[in-house]
Amino acid sequence: MALRNIVTKEDSILRKKCREVEKFDDKLHTLLDDMAQTMYKADGVGLAGPQVGILRRVFVVDVGEGLYEMINPKIIAKKGKQTGNEGCLSCPHTFGDVTRPNYVKVEYFDRNGQKQTVEATELFARAICHENDHLDGTLFIDIATDLYEEK
Ligand code: CO
Repeated sequence: MALRNIVTKEDSILRKKCREVEKFDDKLHTLLDDMAQTMYKADGVGLAGPQVGILRRVFVVDVGEGLYEMINPKIIAKKGKQTGNEGCLSCPHTFGDVTRPNYVKVEYFDRNGQKQTVEATELFARAICHENDHLDGTLFIDIATDLYEEK
């Protein structure tokens, strides 16, 4: 495993739309291992492919319910609303409130190419939506209200 460099908001790679993962191979497994290690080292709760320069539909998330690796995720149901504070490892020192669904149901593939479904609420739902947005080039600063900087 190795730490990867996290790109920041000035990098146009964060604005691109990611392609689906096609091969569930060793290279993908290394990427997932590296992404998890990089996320934990940076004290984040989620990290998406483009943030480490990889334009593929993949993210890792851990809000305290264990590590989830989501490949080619699709949000297939949403319910309710929540508004809460967000930050992003690619937008250091920047925070703001974002309104998200309070519940999501996600279909994704695990690292072995097996289809999985998970239902998430509150912080877990928020993190999934935030990471999923990265796969389409959207950053939380695009949709946040009351953006502020904190050093
Ligand atoms: Co982010």
